Amino acid sequence: MSDPGDADASLVATATARLTATSSLDTLVEVEAELLGKRSTLAAAQKALGGLEPEQRREAGLRLQTVRKQIEAIVAERRAALEQTARADRLAADRFDLTEVLASEVPWRGHLHLVQRTRDELEDVFVGMGFAVAEGPEVETDWYNFEALNMPPAHPARGMWDTLYLNLGEPETVVLRTHTSPVQIRLMQTQAPPIYAVMPGRCYRRDTPDARHIPTFNQIEGLVIDRGISFADLAGTIETFTTAYFGPDTHSRLRPSYFPFTEPSAEYEITCTICGGDGCRTCSHTGWIELGGCGMVDPAVFAAVGLDDEQWSGFAFGFGIDRCAQMRHEIPDMRVLLENDVRLLRQI
Ligand code: DAH
Repeated sequence: MSDPGDADASLVATATARLTATSSLDTLVEVEAELLGKRSTLAAAQKALGGLEPEQRREAGLRLQTVRKQIEAIVAERRAALEQTARADRLAADRFDLTEVLASEVPWRGHLHLVQRTRDELEDVFVGMGFAVAEGPEVETDWYNFEALNMPPAHPARGMWDTLYLNLGEPETVVLRTHTSPVQIRLMQTQAPPIYAVMPGRCYRRDTPDARHIPTFNQIEGLVIDRGISFADLAGTIETFTTAYFGPDTHSRLRPSYFPFTEPSAEYEITCTICGGDGCRTCSHTGWIELGGCGMVDPAVFAAVGLDDEQWSGFAFGFGIDRCAQMRHEIPDMRVLLENDVRLLRQI
């Protein structure tokens, strides 16, 4: 008769070999079930104990129990090893590579142009103050660009804008808009007051480019129409915008001026961001920089869009987005905003 001790040893040896060969926790679970589960050889042997004499049963029972314990210990050991490997694999997969990468190896990622970012920021400031954002066409009729804004044909104020006419329809009836003010008219035609809106967009003038003028530039127009709006509301709005966008050290002032579509009209100036108001070359030693114009909406404009100026009053303003970017980012020459030189675009 074979020695039961040999049988036990071979059972343990086979189990060890099979367990050591497992390479994942999933297979370990399967092999464990085969070796120790209800359908295993070991379980069958333990079940068969019932048919033995009490003396033999005790001895065989103890032996099989020892075998089970040994196999369980090997399973536990193998499980610990496989868990450690799995953890190490997870950590390796999550690891960040913090080693330095040379800038020349990283492909350059593009970003929005400074003017677009400035426009987005200006919109955000005004939206934060309760204004809506509206847009209008860049190709305009003479009526929207001039006439509805209280400049009939041959009005001398038209000379304030060096206009680019398009060769469309009757001569000099279609223009590239010289300012965003025509969008005010479109808005008042389509929307009943109260109106609180800003209208950003590109404008065109037959200007010779220099450090502070470019022939295609961007303006942001503002329009407020409500009951009982006063010049103080205009001044307060402008000052709120100025400190919100340029920071608490920059302030605004309004100086008497003339625009056909506002009465009274004013020029909007901010403290020079280059010298902080002390006076420098950029501000021609005045300490102030002009950003645009503003005023109370002229009754003639209300008449052009059919609004009752007894009921409604309002203010409007318009200023240069590129000029805002130039002042906030201290860009000495505005022409760089149009040139698209990638050496510069990468930096701004
Ligand atoms: N449209 C004017 C310009 O381009 C700026 C301006 C002045 C806009 C007064 C306004 C305003 O809305 O009320 O020079």
